[in-house]
Amino acid sequence: MKTIGVLTSGGDAPGMNAAIRAVVRTGAYNDMRTLGIIRGFNGLIHDEIQELDISAVGDILHRGGTILKTARSEEFKTEAGMQKAMEIIKKYGIEGIVVIGGDGSFRGARDLSRLGVPTIGLPGTIDNDIACTDYTIGFSTAINTVIDAINKLRDTASSHDRISIVEVMGRNAGDIALYSGIAGGAESIIVPELPFETDEICRRIIQGRNRGKQHSIIVLAEGVVLNKEISGTIELGKEIEAKTGLEVKVTILGHIQRGGSPTAFDRILASRMGARAVELLKQGIGNRVVGIRNNHIVDVEVEEALTMKRSFNQDLYRLAQILSM
Ligand code: F6P
Repeated sequence: MKTIGVLTSGGDAPGMNAAIRAVVRTGAYNDMRTLGIIRGFNGLIHDEIQELDISAVGDILHRGGTILKTARSEEFKTEAGMQKAMEIIKKYGIEGIVVIGGDGSFRGARDLSRLGVPTIGLPGTIDNDIACTDYTIGFSTAINTVIDAINKLRDTASSHDRISIVEVMGRNAGDIALYSGIAGGAESIIVPELPFETDEICRRIIQGRNRGKQHSIIVLAEGVVLNKEISGTIELGKEIEAKTGLEVKVTILGHIQRGGSPTAFDRILASRMGARAVELLKQGIGNRVVGIRNNHIVDVEVEEALTMKRSFNQDLYRLAQILSM
């Protein structure tokens, strides 16, 4: 294989640039030329291609976002979109592609592989919701951003004897809430994977106050507010306020969780995954998603990665409950 393409797709995640750099430089080391595809699968359809030599990926390792830009493409899912993509692939002589993104992006990787273009998926999302990997690129940075916010919110919550509810991202997954809640010492962590009782949350808050605690932090995953019991985080705050008699402030962290310089963990993870993707393509292997399990880089078939069931870390959740007594 002499020419490969790389694209980022779906929501951006810190560490995507480190992955792009690893693809380009491992490719160059193996005498492969890398073409950057701009704006994900949309760029592939609309001929937004530019060559990336080893200097083009200099000075990006520490930068958040993605130099290739990203998009979610509806057009690519259509027959016509696919055909256009195949024309561009032929035009540039692209023999293999690395797709960095979430599970939606992996479907694109599978479809391209089926059409004879070996394609490798790298899990790039802050949500940590990809079953075939212990960690996704961007998750570590996102939870560190949340911890930083929790530290600051605790300062002001203590000064005013308030309860602080922090709503974090994660789509349907509670990992950002779970990990940042543990690291940030939250009293309660609410995730979509497990049921919760507002009364139990209030009981814990009151218990803490009775032994002199000046603040209470509740971390809530955005996926939870989508169910019927709570129509929104603000409403949950009002309910807790009414039940405890304590003032509640709600902070919805939003897209701040998607930005920032990647942590060392994300940079190393992205570098290792990017290198594995190129090694697979070099052997003409496609239709795989790369992951990390027990600190080993692994790869599984795309279809398997898409159908694998994610397991929520209940042990960690129990630990959080014990430690936040
Ligand atoms: O998948 C990453 C993510 O940040 C989710 O946590 C969040 O639900 C979603 O993307 C937000 O998407 P958008 O940036 O399109 O608003």
